[in-house]
Amino acid sequence: MVEMPELQRELLRQEMQEHLIAYQRILDHLSRGEIAEAGDFAEQTMGVSTMGKHREITQGMGPGRFMPAGMRQMAFTMHETASEFAQVAQEEDMPKALRALHELTSTCVGCHMSFRTR
Ligand code: HEC
Repeated sequence: MVEMPELQRELLRQEMQEHLIAYQRILDHLSRGEIAEAGDFAEQTMGVSTMGKHREITQGMGPGRFMPAGMRQMAFTMHETASEFAQVAQEEDMPKALRALHELTSTCVGCHMSFRTR
């Protein structure tokens, strides 16, 4: 159980919902054979480039600041794995892309099985 102020907990929850929606869009792209597009979308929604997006509203104290080290590491790995999927997807090789997406899904599962905020 990880304690977080209301604002950060709510921001994390919003971000999680966005991740789930992103997953749906990624799978939709893949089902149409739009592999590179799936990758681009993953980077825009979950990649390393999206880290720190709550900096302004939280004055530098985003949800990550309240995570224990192990949880923060998992969050970082998630963003990294999303960016790796985005890169692999540019090769337009479906089995390879699906394997990379599986790595990303494992990070979702890993954190949910280990931590909760309520
Ligand atoms: C660093 C840890 C971590 C990672 C990684 C993570 N989550 Fe979460 N997620 C949480 C926590 C904490 C909650 C809050 C639920 C709780 O407290 O039990 C949550 C909640 C959710 C919820 C429920 C939101 C709601 O409406 O209450 C969804 C959906 C979700 N995550 C999707 C994802 C997806 C998809 C991924 C992978 C792309 C992911 N999460 C990766 C920690 C994580």
